[in-house]
Amino acid sequence: MSELLEWNGELARPLNLIDGVFQPADSGQWLDSTDPSTGSVWAQVPAGEEADVDAAVSAAKRAFHGSWRDTPALQRAALLRSAAALFEEHADELARIETRDNGRIYAETRAGDLPAVYQMFHYWAGAADKIQGETVRVGPGSFNFTLPEPVGVVAVIVPWNAPLSILAAKLGAALAAGCTAVVKPAEQAACSILTAAKLFERAGFPAGVVNVVCGTGASAGDALVQHRDVQKITFTGSTDTARRITESSAQTLKPLAFELGGKSANIVFADADLEAAEIGVSTASIFTGGAGQTCVAGSRILIQRPIYDEMLARIEKRAATVALGDPMASSTSMGPIAFDRQFEKVRSYLELGREEGAEIVFGGRSGEELFERGSPYASGYFVEPTLFREARNDMRICREEIFGPVAAVIPFESEEEAVAIANDSEYGLACGVWTSDLKRAHRMVPRVEAGAVWVNAYRRIHWAVPFGGVKNSGYGRDSGLESLRGYLRTKSAWIELGE
Ligand code: NAI
Ligand code: MG
Repeated sequence: MSELLEWNGELARPLNLIDGVFQPADSGQWLDSTDPSTGSVWAQVPAGEEADVDAAVSAAKRAFHGSWRDTPALQRAALLRSAAALFEEHADELARIETRDNGRIYAETRAGDLPAVYQMFHYWAGAADKIQGETVRVGPGSFNFTLPEPVGVVAVIVPWNAPLSILAAKLGAALAAGCTAVVKPAEQAACSILTAAKLFERAGFPAGVVNVVCGTGASAGDALVQHRDVQKITFTGSTDTARRITESSAQTLKPLAFELGGKSANIVFADADLEAAEIGVSTASIFTGGAGQTCVAGSRILIQRPIYDEMLARIEKRAATVALGDPMASSTSMGPIAFDRQFEKVRSYLELGREEGAEIVFGGRSGEELFERGSPYASGYFVEPTLFREARNDMRICREEIFGPVAAVIPFESEEEAVAIANDSEYGLACGVWTSDLKRAHRMVPRVEAGAVWVNAYRRIHWAVPFGGVKNSGYGRDSGLESLRGYLRTKSAWIELGE
């Protein structure tokens, strides 16, 4: 399948990377990883546990104190640039591996995520030598200056929906800051990160600077969170797991950065460009290459009454063009749900929406209902794009993150009401506003409780722009220079002048 990952069509077995050595888990145990488009096991990944985590953290600590912390910034930058070049060179292979493992269509992963990954490494290379302190006038008699220092060993805990791009945002910043890292990919889709570890080796990072330990969240993840030599945790995933991490890390008081779930509102006003809104609203939630498995999914669609029926008819027409099937094929526009447990979760919400009294506009089928008997995809984890209408914001389908190609449409009358509905959520990750009224756009931006607001657009993400949420969508930011501060701490130095 690729130069980087040996795969004879039976079972790929990528290894952990600890202290510069590729190795299986200390216990010799493996975890199955499925190809979610067929439900068959295509790879096994190391079932790392406490012993593996401990070895990786020790290596990262040695590398930090041994040399990395004091490596000149431009040398760290040069290594990040080498990594960027290698990721660009191997972008096809890495995208293929990621698609095989999590089901998001190849076209989207290759054209969207991979270029972002290598651009991010370039971006962070450029940031490495721009870390500066301040001088503070505290005299007479004393001189004070601040020294930003890397925090040390960082735990980077990554989910399965977009492993490489989420990794690059966090790891790029950590390495630029002068930290070393232990990466814990999600056990359901770890292969792209385990494979990419080879590129950090080839780029020339010293042993121990980047370590990758795959294992379950409850075992490897928790061991990492509790480890006393880990100085910072950066995590993307569910709000429940973030709570668990907060509790587990309490004894060792680590700074945490959480990028969590969402139930983002995509608000269409009657004065909007309806064609642009139709595309924006559909591709924000139900018609995505990753089957809606994105934290920023605009899964609550708020439509102003006068255009309610017209917008629904437009979105419905679009549903007929969605093609489910082989995520590698260019004719496929939407892949499966990434693994069995998530598939069952999404299906349970299809059932729940009906029970709660929301009406299905289109969709609602899944699994073998979608393919002819004998098709390899009938045993895959496919869910049809599904739209519920006449939903109320107090229904569970409007309150809980589904993380699938499922959205609920809620009608509203006034701007006031739209803001109230949008903000009536435990989450606050993103919000879309569709309007041709510039004043309204400016009124809406400060009023919605969200980490990102898009006006006449959706899902715009860029490595130079801080990304994260408010409320139960988390705290701390990925991307942008602001996120660099999360990997630094400030020392204040006092020089006594004796005057
Ligand atoms: P999760 O939050 O449990 O998994 C994310 C990562 O955390 C994985 O690497 C996992 O192994 C690790 N992890 C799990 N338990 C841990 C623990 N106790 N200590 C340390 N690390 C731990 O999410 P899961 O169960 O895979 O998905 C459940 C739901 O989470 C989804 O249905 C979706 O709603 C949400 N989610 C949100 C994501 C986002 O982009 N914000 C990404 C993935 C999931
Ligand atoms: Mg998989």
